[in-house]
Amino acid sequence: MRVHPESTMLDLQEVLSTSSRNYLMIAHRARSDDRIPLNDLCGASGRWDGVSRAITSALFLSHSMRRDTTIHILLLGPEDPPKLLSVNGERVKYLNPDERAGTALMKKCLSCSLSQERGAVVFPSPGITLARAGLEDIIESFQGGLMEMDEKGIELTPDLAGSLRGRPMMFILSDDQNLTNEEASIMERRPGQRFRVGDKVLHTHMAITIVHYLLDRAGI
Ligand SMILES: C[S@@+](CC[C@H](N)C(=O)[O-])C[C@H]1O[C@@H](n2cnc3c(N)ncnc32)[C@H](O)[C@@H]1O
Repeated sequence: MRVHPESTMLDLQEVLSTSSRNYLMIAHRARSDDRIPLNDLCGASGRWDGVSRAITSALFLSHSMRRDTTIHILLLGPEDPPKLLSVNGERVKYLNPDERAGTALMKKCLSCSLSQERGAVVFPSPGITLARAGLEDIIESFQGGLMEMDEKGIELTPDLAGSLRGRPMMFILSDDQNLTNEEASIMERRPGQRFRVGDKVLHTHMAITIVHYLLDRAGI
């Protein structure tokens, strides 16, 4: 695939600080290469259906995009992990909200070759970057507030959301699996806050929608 010549000067830190609102989804099983079967998004692809819904919930409004938001997907499934796929609501093009078409665009991006060197970044399509980064690299490079989303955290109210104003924020969510012990210990190295949005266990994309709602209500 032809690599889009956009902002070739960006490094991982800049990719992570493009937007004021950031979501990081840790996708433990989602394929990190381009062998994603579009007819089996919730099986052989390693739950790319959930990844695609998270992208849609993070970036789409009814007739426009959330230009202040980037969603970062940490792809840990086969065959080429770890890979960080970031989609920026202001710059992305050709993205459709339906799962199959959205995943088809990401699959195309994943066919772009990416060096094994930590911190390597490529731009496969407008508004989309691929970086060679694991959770530790992301946590260390992000300059802003880290918020882990977990149903056992403290309740994120509009007032509490308002107190996050003033610096970039990253909400970290898992997929259908819990964080591994290793991931939990990486998170503890740079502690942020753990928030819940109600005590029911939601799908990742549902939690993202509620966080957006609370930030919108807080006027951030
Ligand atoms: C499907 S849930 C994870 C499943 C869960 N670990 C389990 O025991 O099956 C996906 C992610 O959405 C977020 N999430 C789900 N419900 C939430 C809630 N009530 N408050 C905050 N985050 C939530 C968390 O980040 C969670 O890891």
